[in-house]
Amino acid sequence: MSIIKDLEKDIKEIVKKAGYEVENFTLETSNRRDLGEYQLNDAMQLASIYHENPREIASKIVAELEKDPRFVNINIAGPGFINISLSDDYTCEVLNEIHSDIFKNIDQKEPKKILIDYGGANVAKALHVGHLRSANIGEALKRLANLLGYRAVGDAHLGDYGRPLGLVLKELKERYPNLEFFNPNYEGNYEELSLPITNEDLESIYPYASNKSKEDEAYLEDARDITARIQRHERGYYDLWKKVVEISKEDIKKTYDTLNVNFEIWNGESDEMEFYDALNEKIEASGILEDSEGAKIIDVTEETDNAPMPPLLYTKSNGSVSYETTDLATILEREIHLKPDEMWYVVDGRQSLHFEQVFRAARKAKLVSDDTVLEHVGFGTMNGRDGKPFKTRDGGVMTLKNLIGLVNEETLKRINPETVSEEEKEEVAKTVAIAALKYADFLPFRGTDYIFEIEKFTDLEGKTGPYLLYSTIRMKSLLTKAGNPESLKITKLKGQTEKDIALTILNLPSVLDKSIETRSLNEIAEYLYKLTSFYNKFYAENKIITEEDAQLRESWLALTELVYKINHLLLDVLSIKVPNKM
Ligand code: ARG
Repeated sequence: MSIIKDLEKDIKEIVKKAGYEVENFTLETSNRRDLGEYQLNDAMQLASIYHENPREIASKIVAELEKDPRFVNINIAGPGFINISLSDDYTCEVLNEIHSDIFKNIDQKEPKKILIDYGGANVAKALHVGHLRSANIGEALKRLANLLGYRAVGDAHLGDYGRPLGLVLKELKERYPNLEFFNPNYEGNYEELSLPITNEDLESIYPYASNKSKEDEAYLEDARDITARIQRHERGYYDLWKKVVEISKEDIKKTYDTLNVNFEIWNGESDEMEFYDALNEKIEASGILEDSEGAKIIDVTEETDNAPMPPLLYTKSNGSVSYETTDLATILEREIHLKPDEMWYVVDGRQSLHFEQVFRAARKAKLVSDDTVLEHVGFGTMNGRDGKPFKTRDGGVMTLKNLIGLVNEETLKRINPETVSEEEKEEVAKTVAIAALKYADFLPFRGTDYIFEIEKFTDLEGKTGPYLLYSTIRMKSLLTKAGNPESLKITKLKGQTEKDIALTILNLPSVLDKSIETRSLNEIAEYLYKLTSFYNKFYAENKIITEEDAQLRESWLALTELVYKINHLLLDVLSIKVPNKM
């Protein structure tokens, strides 16, 4: 249990000795640090329960608290607020405890199983900026959940199903009509054939085919026909589809690697659609399907709705399935294989209607048990300077690779040539670029749109990824300069800044809690900045290495090591790597 929660429990007992019982006592961080580090506001509430004067209650509590050497500077403010601070000795003691094991200050939750869907990259299409946000937020939430004791896994949920793939194969057939995959008389093994195309070709083929299908009805008809063939697993077409998926997937994996994002499960929509028959059985048995001009729909309205809720389109009139249906099959598959307690979908906020429909239909058809949590963790858009969705300089759609490239150009300029050699430069710049992108993405609450300014977020100063990396590296090099002493202990505190650092460290569990509750990383991003800034202030105020008081010097080094450890831990939660130098 975290230090503060432990203290709150102890205080509850102390208050009992004063003659009062209270459900929970909360130590609130005070914003009047001159009066005390924490405030206890519960005497006010006790006054109405016990029908006594709150100031009198407060003074009885204070009398008890004063017997405890952990607390100092206890005083009553206003009608009965108690200000209280932690003694230096006690502060040192808990800091050492955390230093020896950070987990002593992280509250562990029940080990619920959480499946997080945060990939959604589409085969044969370039990843775009929206996929970046899914990946960043989803990966970090997964790491945070696991840090807190949940059992969270990530699913890439590749978009490898439906029309787009039919279009790509149609265009391949136009360009390479002699491929054996299109030869009905070919009797060899398709797996041994190689394809004359690269992922780059694929990324240009899809937009081309998509545009063409809008003008050419016969072309579209062929693409539809090919889509159906793929879905029937027809020899040749199905095998070619598999090759295309393979090529594209390899590239998608590389991009996720660059972002330090890894999925435990690499299912695609097509894998999930293997459960379509099983889904149909359940859906039909539940009696919720309705006919609508040849299409099949599910009414998902609820009595409490105060806005119109359109029905879920289950199958279209031509028999093909919808995006909603692929997600229903996915829920069923996950329920069969994993039975998660919760499923979180980290997907663009603009898909909220889609998920609302899917979740309601899943419940109506009893695909999951009543207490399974289904949640759309939506996010806003990352915009360019003009406040509109990020575009390339010539107005085209910004692919994720383009964006990473642009940020990289900027970080490369800022690498210090005195510390980083020419050979290492590229690699370091890449790590810093990803940190810049990710940290900027975490700073605002996930639901809000924000503007990504490349120069601002690659700056070494301010609330930026590079600032955090630079400062964290500096902590490490200070320890190296001191000869990496072992088993350092904090036994002395000198200034206010050290106390600020200590209190910030004690506050970590509440930040982690808020973050997981809101499914947003902004609290952690702000916390990292706060802790790092306090540390940097402390670093500027003191000459740590040359300090003559040995006890103080050791305490300062230990504090440095502790902040370093926490920064590392939290940057790792955010899936941001720290280079050795920059
Ligand atoms: N492939 C989709 C897209 O690019 C995102 C999929 C999100 N996940 C889901 N289970 N629907 O928009």
